[in-house]
Parts: sequence; structure tokens; C-alpha cells
Amino acid sequence: MQKSEDVELRPSPHSAYQPFGELHNCYPFVKWAGGKTQLLVELDKVIPSEFDLYFEPFLGGGAMFFHLISNRNRLFTAYLADLNRDLITSYKIVKHNVKELIQLLKKYEAEYKEDPIEYYYTLRDIIRPKNDIEKAARFIALNKTCYNGLYRVNRAGIFNVPIGRYKNPPICDSNNLENVSQALRYSKAIIQARDYGQMILGRAEKGDFVFLDPPYNPTSSTSNFTNYTDYGFGDNDQEQLASIFRKLDDRKCRVLLTNSDTPFIRELYSDFATNIKEVSVLRAINCKASKRTGHKELLVRNYDNDTCF
Ligand SMILES: C[S@@+](CC[C@H](N)C(=O)[O-])C[C@H]1O[C@@H](n2cnc3c(N)ncnc32)[C@H](O)[C@@H]1O
Repeated sequence: MQKSEDVELRPSPHSAYQPFGELHNCYPFVKWAGGKTQLLVELDKVIPSEFDLYFEPFLGGGAMFFHLISNRNRLFTAYLADLNRDLITSYKIVKHNVKELIQLLKKYEAEYKEDPIEYYYTLRDIIRPKNDIEKAARFIALNKTCYNGLYRVNRAGIFNVPIGRYKNPPICDSNNLENVSQALRYSKAIIQARDYGQMILGRAEKGDFVFLDPPYNPTSSTSNFTNYTDYGFGDNDQEQLASIFRKLDDRKCRVLLTNSDTPFIRELYSDFATNIKEVSVLRAINCKASKRTGHKELLVRNYDNDTCF
């Protein structure tokens, strides 16, 4: 069964960041609003050339983590966190119980093929998981078949997204799940459902790499999707995050943050203005294709280009 607590000792400097051979390519196993897959080309240009531990405390689909570990073919110890408990349970199950998980997902895939609507609403509204493996399977299967891969819960914490329209959704991507499991085990990933601040301030030290991908600061009153959990992420949270960014800078961590390009975010990180890069990205969260173009995002970091790959 899954280990109750993932605890790892800090390796000696740079020893965690070594090339290694056998890891297979992998990518996010969930669709996630604000996922960074489309931004990887830009992010790749600003990855620090060396670091000790890796921190990704707004994990979501983990596009950056999977990019670093599989495309960069580097081994490092990773601290991964998100406030979304079901998401984190799924990561832990993929890490420790991937075979049992795949069995269940294959069953859901077969049920979907027989009758998508019956499958979806039974899984969403009737089935109540009895253990974490069943929880993870339900979470992943719903994520792959719900509308736009959205995660939304009602006041009672019950997932309430309607079914999406797909011909052949990849509910059980066995190959990738096996590869993700291997990546999480090789990187000795410590995976926690907790607030970003608690995770990084308690652990990150000089020479570590911290990637911060918080919920977006809304660019307009109609684009305020920050509801990944029950808590939301408002202006006060963005201010608090900026102050943690500065604390990590004082500690000499290498910190990279993404956010939307708004005057508020530019002001919050004005101390790092020389290392702010503007990039264009399509935002998949908007269901109307016409509204998916032209968004600008900011990459803010506290280190220079000559320390990047
Ligand atoms: C923009 S998404 C991250 C996307 C991710 N980088 C990817 O590639 O899929 C932001 C994530 O932060 C999480 N989150 C929101 N508030 C948080 C908090 N206070 N601490 C930790 N995670 C939080 C949300 O659940 C969401 O998964």
C-alpha cells in the first residue's frame, strides 16, 4: 500500500541533479486548467543550469516537473504540492500503486465505451470510493471525460462538472501512467496536499530551484477562474506570494514564477523587472475558440540568463 508519509533526507549539494539513462518520456496524467504544456518552449529557456532540490508547490498537472525529468533527462529530488487533495491522492497512487490503478481505469474505459452518459453520471454521482486507489481512479476517469477537464466542486465539496463531448477519451493511458510512476519514484518525489508557503518555507535552501505557477491574477472581471479548490486565490494571496518570492530570493534559491500580464503583477515584482519576460500563450480554459488567443503571460525570475541552460 501507499506509504503514509513521504519523508526524504536532503542530499549533499548538487548530488541530486545528475544525468540518468533509463527514464521513459512522460507527461501530465490529468488535463489541468492553467497547465503549462503550451508554455514549455519558453520555460525551457529559463531553467537554471544547476540546482539541488526542485520545488513545485502549485503542482496541478505538473507539466514543468515532467518536462524537467523526462525531456531534460535529469534526476533530482522533487518536492511537489497542491491544495487539491484528490489530485495529490492521485499522484501518490500513481507513484505507489500504479498497477491496481490501471486495472480500475481499464474497467472505466470499457464502461465508457458501452454507454458514456450512464458511465459518467454513475461514477460522478453514485459511486463512492472505498479507498485511495478507487479515489484516484475515479478522479482520473472523471478528469478525462468531464467538460474541458475542469475541476469544480459545490459548497458541499461534491464534484459537479457535466460530461464533456469526446469520441475516444484516453481514460487509461497505461504507458504514460507507468512512466509517470517511474518518474515519481526515481525523483524520490515528496508529494503533499498542503499550502505552497508551508511547503517551500519549511524546506527550500540556497541553490534549490522553486517553480511557482499560482492561479492567475484575472485579466478582467470575466476571466477570474481561480477555483481549483474551495479556497480561491485573490489579490491578498498574490501579495503574500510575492513576499515569499522575496524571502526565497534572500535565501538565494532560484525562483521562477508565471502569472498573467497585469499591471498588478508587474508592480508586485517590480524589484525583479530586469528579469521579467513577456510571453504569448493560448489559454485552454476558455471553451470558446475565439477567446483562446492573444493572452500575455509573465515569467518572473530572480536569476540571470547566464545561469540558464
Ligand atoms: C495554474 S495551476 C498549476 C498548473 C500546473 N503548473 C500545470 O502545469 O498543470 C495552480 C494550482 O495551484 C493550486 N493551488 C491553489 N491555491 C493553492 C495554495 N494556496 N497552495 C498550493 N496550491 C494551491 C491549484 O489547486 C492549482 O492546481
